[in-house]
Amino acid sequence: MAPSADNINLVVSKNIKLERMFSMKGGKGEASYANNSQAQAQHARSMLHLLRETLDGVEINKVPCFVVVDLGCSCGSNTIYMIDVIVKHMIKRFEASGVEPPEFSAFFSDLPSNDFNTLFQLLPPLANHGGSSMEECLASDAHRSYFAAAVPGSFHRRLFPSASVDFFYSAFSLHWLSQVPESVMDKRSAAYNEGKVFIQGAKESTAVAYRKRWQSDLSDFLSSRKCEMRRGGSMFLVCLGRTSVNPTDQGGAGLLFGTHFQDAWNDLVLEGLISTEKRDSFNIPVYAPSLQDFKEVVEAEGSFAINKLEVFRGGSPLVVSQPEDANEVGRALANSCRSVCGVLVDAHIGESLSHDLFSRVQSRATASANQILEQLQFFHIVASLSFT
Ligand SMILES: C[S@@+](CC[C@H](N)C(=O)[O-])C[C@H]1O[C@@H](n2cnc3c(N)ncnc32)[C@H](O)[C@@H]1O
Repeated sequence: MAPSADNINLVVSKNIKLERMFSMKGGKGEASYANNSQAQAQHARSMLHLLRETLDGVEINKVPCFVVVDLGCSCGSNTIYMIDVIVKHMIKRFEASGVEPPEFSAFFSDLPSNDFNTLFQLLPPLANHGGSSMEECLASDAHRSYFAAAVPGSFHRRLFPSASVDFFYSAFSLHWLSQVPESVMDKRSAAYNEGKVFIQGAKESTAVAYRKRWQSDLSDFLSSRKCEMRRGGSMFLVCLGRTSVNPTDQGGAGLLFGTHFQDAWNDLVLEGLISTEKRDSFNIPVYAPSLQDFKEVVEAEGSFAINKLEVFRGGSPLVVSQPEDANEVGRALANSCRSVCGVLVDAHIGESLSHDLFSRVQSRATASANQILEQLQFFHIVASLSFT
């Protein structure tokens, strides 16, 4: 049974387990993640050369099954496309090394509230290994050449048996915190994020609390993967990042959550629809790290060698067919924002007020369409790590 808005509200306000209810917007509706992840698809495809470079570093051994995992797979078709690229590339590498390609197993992993049903409906059927050759499988886009399964759970903890995974992929997920830091929601704390719903332009103490949480989360992520990965395996990680050294300048994430979205929350307060406390007890659990933030954690945790760590310019998170149409730009921004944080907003203020909030995001974004198109750019941290 789906949790009621009141139950969820309790979970959010007490900040107990964000992971129990957090997900991208499921289904196939207008504001669903499945319908608002074309930009992520484009950004991921522009990094395929970096992914292939990482795959080229994976050791080729004679194994009965090669295991690939996507952490934070969500419910759109992006994950299916990327797993297909990974498996096909590895099959070619096995063949080029003169080693008979093993069977492939792909695990799609995300939080338990992820809409795995929508994902499974998008999954192509398994190619008939018995009846067709590997070449036929590779040539066929309508089939998959791997066994598929879902693994629900937080990537900040163990998800797989020891030494069982050859390749981890994770895209656009590691900037999500395991929880909003307690101090950010505590009125008595110097880090209390008064008047804001994100750290864009917040006090330094608020940003420091966010950074500490994110670094501790990444460290937990790496320690878990270290246990699960086979020697010779690799990881390809992409998350939202920033180019500024100042964490209160969150770059593209700052524009997405710190401008029209923030103003829409203020509108609800000014119109008497919610209290200031209600607004101030909501915070977006996202932190866009700098390269330095990322590097410090990988080095301190110490299990993985860094092959590549760089900031990659991904481009706009909005895909619009008519950029001159301000209404389309406004709608795209509101839908994009809603697809990634709508579930949290619904839980905090209920679906009806959430609808009001995103309508205001849309009208504000429509009024600033040109500026949005000019300024909204996402940068990503791209990490290629190996376990030697
Ligand atoms: C923006 S989506 C990225 C989806 C997909 N990788 C893509 O490229 O389109 C971020 C995903 O990360 C997941 N996520 C966030 N925190 C997580 C955690 N602690 N453990 C597992 N998944 C998490 C969310 O549920 C969401 O599905």
